[in-house]
Amino acid sequence: MRSFLIAGNWKMNMGPKETADFFGQLDDAVQQEKPGVEAAVCPPFISLPAAFEARKPGSAVKIGAQNVHFEDNGAFTGEVSTTMLNELGCDFVILGHSERREYFGEDDAIINKKVKKALADGITPIVCVGEVLDERKSNRHFDVVKTQTTGSLAGLSASDAGKIVIAYEPVWAIGTGETASPEQAQEMHAFIRKELTGLFGQDVADTIRILYGGSMKPDNAGELMQNPDVDGGLIGGASLKADSFAKLVSIAAEQK
Ligand code: PGA
Repeated sequence: MRSFLIAGNWKMNMGPKETADFFGQLDDAVQQEKPGVEAAVCPPFISLPAAFEARKPGSAVKIGAQNVHFEDNGAFTGEVSTTMLNELGCDFVILGHSERREYFGEDDAIINKKVKKALADGITPIVCVGEVLDERKSNRHFDVVKTQTTGSLAGLSASDAGKIVIAYEPVWAIGTGETASPEQAQEMHAFIRKELTGLFGQDVADTIRILYGGSMKPDNAGELMQNPDVDGGLIGGASLKADSFAKLVSIAAEQK
């Protein structure tokens, strides 16, 4: 059985002080290990050390990064490596977010290199896919998501593929307050799982968690996560406050 994953994508929010405050305010109950639910937050690079320091000993909340380079070290000004993330103890890295694709020129080939590097170094990639509004309106959303999925995961072995997490994030729903309907989410998640089955076989596809992202919040998380192929959320705005993040984790824990 797949466990749920509630992952907070803090984007360019929350400096070290706010990060420490977040962990200070986070309810103890949320930080306890829960059967069937994993929780994680992904602060900006500069706030990662503060997150590790402020996280209570024994807390089950995992910590991830929002990006990583595909080389180990060298002349790559402004970049951060998996070795550095491992030195802190990061469990996850978000890769191929639509904002990285749109504003920083990342394409499937670059994302694929990063996915392989993260897997090689034991960090779980959360690989983002999703269409823009025009693509949905012109009924190209399945093709777009298929291309992104196959491109980002090209050349992965089935055993490596079994370690990844996918996040389906329709770009028109990110930060807009507009959410995909539970039916739209389930339809795309089932489509992605079918593609994963074609690439890696049914057994592996059945173990890969597919998160929904795009204006997920405590109000709509339950109905989204009730769908058989929605295995949690990659959450931006609603993950920035400790109480709202805690609610999302509790909602996931209530799902069967
Ligand atoms: P949002 O962001 O929850 O603020 O829409 C989600 C994301 O971009 O990962």
